Formats: sequence, structure tokens, C-alpha cells
Amino acid sequence: MTWVAMQGTFPYFCSQLNNFQMSIQQVAVIGAGTMGNGIAHVFAQNGFSVRLIDVNNAQLEKAIQTITKNLDRQVSKGTLTEDQKKSALSNIQVFNEVNAGVSNAELVVEAATENTALKLKIFQELDSYAPQNCILATNTSSISITKIASATKRPQQVIGMHFMNPVPVMKLVEIINGYATDKKVTAAVVEMTKKLDKIPCVVNDYPGFIANRILMPMINEAIYSLYENVAGVEEIDTVMKLGMAHPMGPLQLADFIGLDVCHSILQVLHQGFGNPKYAPCPLLVNMVTAGKLGVKTGEGFYKYVAGSKDLVVSDQFRVQG
Ligand code: CAA
Repeated sequence: MTWVAMQGTFPYFCSQLNNFQMSIQQVAVIGAGTMGNGIAHVFAQNGFSVRLIDVNNAQLEKAIQTITKNLDRQVSKGTLTEDQKKSALSNIQVFNEVNAGVSNAELVVEAATENTALKLKIFQELDSYAPQNCILATNTSSISITKIASATKRPQQVIGMHFMNPVPVMKLVEIINGYATDKKVTAAVVEMTKKLDKIPCVVNDYPGFIANRILMPMINEAIYSLYENVAGVEEIDTVMKLGMAHPMGPLQLADFIGLDVCHSILQVLHQGFGNPKYAPCPLLVNMVTAGKLGVKTGEGFYKYVAGSKDLVVSDQFRVQG
């Protein structure tokens, strides 16, 4: 090809890449856990074709049941019709192999377990199997996007898409630019996020991004307040619910997120900034060591009984009468 011909072709390639990314339709979601099934749900409900990928078939089956139950809830509330529910479900296909699952993807959203080694391995695989133009996004809540991108040969196409739990309800998607993320990729992901009826918010890649850099110190401070006996569990949560209009108090929210997750994000902040203000409270460390991880283990600051919405303070924190 002559230089003259290339001069004419270069902008054409650029605009092709742009158009391709702007018209994302085929999406693959890696991981069928709580976040993965929520992400698949919102894409499918908004007309995207979704391939939900997990190595565990039982997990895939459970994810489809959860999505169906959550769509049913929307139908019974009148926010979705029965036809829209059927159409959303028909937009989802399940796969248990990454290779086949991402073969036609224009966007992959990885929502596997929050483990650095695992995510690096997945991104190496995605780089081998996903089409060249495909954008690779991760739903990590704290692992560096720049580090994840370094496992691929396309760091300019790697970006963070941090959805909040419960995904079908929460409006925010924190979009995180890695060090090398191309501006066109960010623009495409921002536009696509709006099509999910969500609000994108673009931030840069530093420990905890914005959501967890601000949320986790608040949760840690609430745990310190309990540890130092400034107030009880209910009092701390009530102050924040009624005084600041938070839907959940910080201790209930910590239970909802998982105390192990809160602990691990605080460690990322502590190590990343080298500042002792982020060190996890010793009470949080003890609770994680004791396996009291919140809702998922049935006990944290509160006790959880399946089928009950009552908030009962854990025996450990009950004030003796
Ligand atoms: N799928 C679809 N809809 C759902 C749902 C789900 N999984 N869970 C709840 N809903 C809907 C309900 O149908 C209900 O809808 P309407 O308002 O139309 O009636 C609404 O959400 C509220 O649900 P509920 O009445 O059952 O319960 P609630 O009023 O107590 O709200 C809550 C539950 C939405 C979870 C609310 O307590 C809340 O917003 N909590 C804070 C959540 C939060 O902060 N999430 C972010 C966590 S941090 C994170 O995710 C990132 C990280 O990196 C750690």
C-alpha cells in the first residue's frame, strides 16, 4: 500500500473502530454470581444480546433463576410487562467456556471473584479469544485497572465498569480509566451505559477509585465507633439513616457488601496509599477471622434469617440488660 493510499485509509480505520464500538450489541459477562447475574439482567432488559459465562453449570442455572425472580418482581410492580420479561430472558444465552462465549463479543464485562491472580488469568484468556476490536471491561471494586490491562496486549481497550449492588436497582456505573485507556473506548462505554438506563461517572485509576475510597473509610469509622463503644449497632446505623438519609446504615451496608470484601478493599487502600488512616479496624479483622462475614454467612453486625426482613442485632453486640 502506498503512503498516499494509507493517508486516505487511516481516518477510515479510525472511524470504523469508532462506529464499531459505538454500536455495541453483543455482550459477554464473565461470572454468574450476584454481580454477574445483575449485569446480565440489565443488559438483557435493555435489548442487548448477552452471553453469560461461568465454569460452574449450577451457578449458571441459579443465575437464570435469580434473573427470572427479579424480572418477575418488576412485572408485579408494573415496571415491566410480561412480554418485556420474556424478551429479556430470550436475550440471554449461557456458556461454560470463555473461548466459545466471547467469540462474537463487542464488549466483555468480567465479574468473576475479586482475586487479582484470577482476574489476570481471565484477561489473558480474553485477550486471546475475544475479537480484536472487543472492549474488555472489569467490574472490579478495587483491583487496579492498569494492572489488569497489563495482562493483555490491548491495554487501550481495557476499562473499569463498576456496577453497584443490587445492579438492577442502583443507578450508578463508576467508569474507570486505566493508565492507557483510549478516550474513544471511554466515550463508547459511557454512551452504552446510558442505554442501560444508568448514570456513568468517569474516574481515574487510583486505589478504591472514588466509590470505595469514600465509602470504605466511612464504614471503617462506623466499626471503630462500635469498637470504642461510642454507640451501639442500632444507634450508629440510625444516626446515618435518619440523619443523612442513607437507605442503610454503614454497619448494615457492611454486612450487605460482605465484611471480607470491606476488609480486602481497606487493605488495598492502606497498601496503595501507605497511609495508616485506611488500616482496617481490629474489630473488622476479628470478625473476618471468625467467619462472621454478614448476610452471606447469616451473621455480621446483625443476624439474618432466610425469608425475614427483620434487622436483629447480633448477640455479640447486644447491650446486656
Ligand atoms: N432486582 C430488582 N429489583 C430489586 C432488587 C433486585 N435484586 N432488590 C430490590 N429491588 C427493588 C424492589 O423491587 C423495590 O422496588 P420499588 O422501589 O419499585 O418497590 C426496591 O428495589 C427497594 O427494594 P425493597 O423494598 O425490597 O427493599 P428496600 O427498600 O430496603 O431497598 C435496597 C433495598 C435497594 C438494597 C436499599 O436498601 C439500598 O439502596 N441500599 C443501599 C445499597 C447500596 O449502597 N449499594 C451499594 C453497595 S457498594 C457496592 O455495590 C460496590 C462495592 O464495590 C462495595
